[in-house]
Amino acid sequence: MNYCSHIIGTGSYLPEKILTNVALAKTVDTTDEWIVERTGIRQRHIAKDGETTADLAFQAAEKALEAAGLKGSDLDLIIVATTTPDNTFPSTATKVQAMLDMDGGAAFDVQAVCSGFIYGLSIADNFIRAGQAKNILVIGAEVFSHIIDWKDRSTCVLFGDGAGAVVVQAHESDESNKTGVLSTHLHSDGKLRDLLYTDGGPGSNSSVGHVRMLGREIFRHAVTKLAAVVDEALKANNLTQSDIDWLVPHQANKRILDSTAKKLGLSKNQVVITVDKHANTSAASVPLALDTAVRDGRIQKGQLVLMEAMGGGLTWGAALVRW
Ligand code: ACO
Repeated sequence: MNYCSHIIGTGSYLPEKILTNVALAKTVDTTDEWIVERTGIRQRHIAKDGETTADLAFQAAEKALEAAGLKGSDLDLIIVATTTPDNTFPSTATKVQAMLDMDGGAAFDVQAVCSGFIYGLSIADNFIRAGQAKNILVIGAEVFSHIIDWKDRSTCVLFGDGAGAVVVQAHESDESNKTGVLSTHLHSDGKLRDLLYTDGGPGSNSSVGHVRMLGREIFRHAVTKLAAVVDEALKANNLTQSDIDWLVPHQANKRILDSTAKKLGLSKNQVVITVDKHANTSAASVPLALDTAVRDGRIQKGQLVLMEAMGGGLTWGAALVRW
């Protein structure tokens, strides 16, 4: 039998504490006007002391499972995309597995920074197509605030904490009427790793490290690489830009989103934008935006949804889904 993957439930979670631009401007040399004009960001959520990536992931997972009508014990795989795992090991995914009371199956983390959710979805889709799993939970979760240099105004204004999750289920595929995940497309270029990185990290480094970034270069690569991977996804499915109903992009910067939408000939109200409310939450940002647009009724059955992201590595990718 041939299988395809359907997203049957979404969920998200943002920590309670909100840090507005105005409040941030009291601790670092910036202004609300500068941040809004350059990025569209108005506030970010920050995890409280002791609240970890696994805690955020668990909250989002419970909502996604509830929406899907499943329990943790129904899952056979958990994939957590994160750059800010609770520990060097074990994986955050195995912590979430225990929290969800899932006894069997498997769980592992994926590291592709802001593209992590697209990478996780792609892995889940391939497990399902191979007939190796039936119900998979894909989570993007970050406590990015822990790796931010709060004295560096060029990066600290951009990021926040959060989590988003989807439940992906194996369905029998119908070649004459393709639905669910149509295709996923992943890329990376390690020669560009110095454009966005942390100057430390677990394992082979002595400190956790902080985010360092060449913002202008990242902006330039984001606009060109995202447009290219979107073209690749459309061509692979014999579709065109006019077939897209919703663009659910990585929420990094409103100017990048506007520019991608323009390149695709999409109107602004076809782009799901949540970056103003939670800033860049790295791997969590695509599922956070997706959950918002599913729950408020924008995304409807039968519509074509395009998700894309780019992040440190550089890594980038896209997923095309017939809802
Ligand atoms: N507040 C006030 N002034 C600032 C701030 C700030 N928070 N940050 C930088 N500035 C100043 C700089 O010091 C500089 O001052 P100078 O002209 O006196 O030297 C001036 O603003 C312009 O700095 P630039 O870095 O050239 O500003 P730019 O217009 O490129 O905007 C930004 C910076 C917002 C980071 C932009 O480059 C960008 O959005 N890049 C994409 C980065 C991104 O989204 N990264 C997320 C991870 S990757 C991803 O998710 C796609």
